[in-house]
Amino acid sequence: MPRVAYVNGRYIAHRHAAVHVEDRGYQFADGVYEVIHLFRGRLIDEAPHLDRLGRSLGELNIDWPVSRAALGIAMRELVRRNRYATGLLYIQVTRGVAPRDHKFPTDVRAALVMTMRPIPEFPADMREEGVKVIIIDDLRWARCDIKAIALLPNVLAKQAATESDAFEAWMCDADGFVTEGASSNAWIVTADGTLVTRPTGPDILRGITRQAIIGLAEEMGLDVEERKFSREEALEAREAFLSNSSHFVTPVTCIDDTVIANGKPGSLSVALHDRYNEFMNSAPQALDQA
Ligand code: PDD
Repeated sequence: MPRVAYVNGRYIAHRHAAVHVEDRGYQFADGVYEVIHLFRGRLIDEAPHLDRLGRSLGELNIDWPVSRAALGIAMRELVRRNRYATGLLYIQVTRGVAPRDHKFPTDVRAALVMTMRPIPEFPADMREEGVKVIIIDDLRWARCDIKAIALLPNVLAKQAATESDAFEAWMCDADGFVTEGASSNAWIVTADGTLVTRPTGPDILRGITRQAIIGLAEEMGLDVEERKFSREEALEAREAFLSNSSHFVTPVTCIDDTVIANGKPGSLSVALHDRYNEFMNSAPQALDQA
């Protein structure tokens, strides 16, 4: 299976893809990214992902490296060259290549890199069994709404989860409220069946999957409340789940060492997982739109 990457206008064999050592992404994490799911040939929620990319770029005063229309064409060409139906498309834009100096360089062109990798479809056992999360302090900066490539606290959080045999780490603010996961948004379901997730703001990423779930839940007649919830409330929740572009709606059945409800994925989490699958299956085929 060929793996092809895109680096500043060129399609290159993945193993040879490289950027300059003075790329500001490499030296300062001065850049932003998106992850879009390619699901059975469909780029899931492409437009909201590109909207968020534009917002992240704008917040950091980085220009689009190419026009949005040209990016859409390059994404499709990469999908076509990689020849698999299900995988993740990673898009990274950095401020560009310049001699190392903290302040913004003048006359620099933003750098665009895209990679793809195939992934298996959602593992059935994660839907049937759910996953464990741990809760740790949120050590991140005050602009988590920007999808910046500076992910060191998220890396440390995920590593801590892995070392605890957990799938994800949920991070808690100084007041004991859950912000979000290392790479996902966090949700609970209350005793009366209300879905609860933290409101968007500078302390979390406005997840594209989160947004889609809110819409689907409302269509299903479920109540959604955007408010903070504490670690204690999560431990006593009727259900819990997490959401992101790579794992959609994943039921959470254990938080730290506490089993959630009866230890099985909750019925609303599973219903939302299945509804989200239908939503993905109804998206248009990426290459039909080329
Ligand atoms: N991460 N919160 C954080 C901190 C994230 O990194 C992500 C996604 C999300 C969910 O956003 P979305 O639904 O748009 O994927 C929330 C991606 C998948 C990643 O870093 O790989």
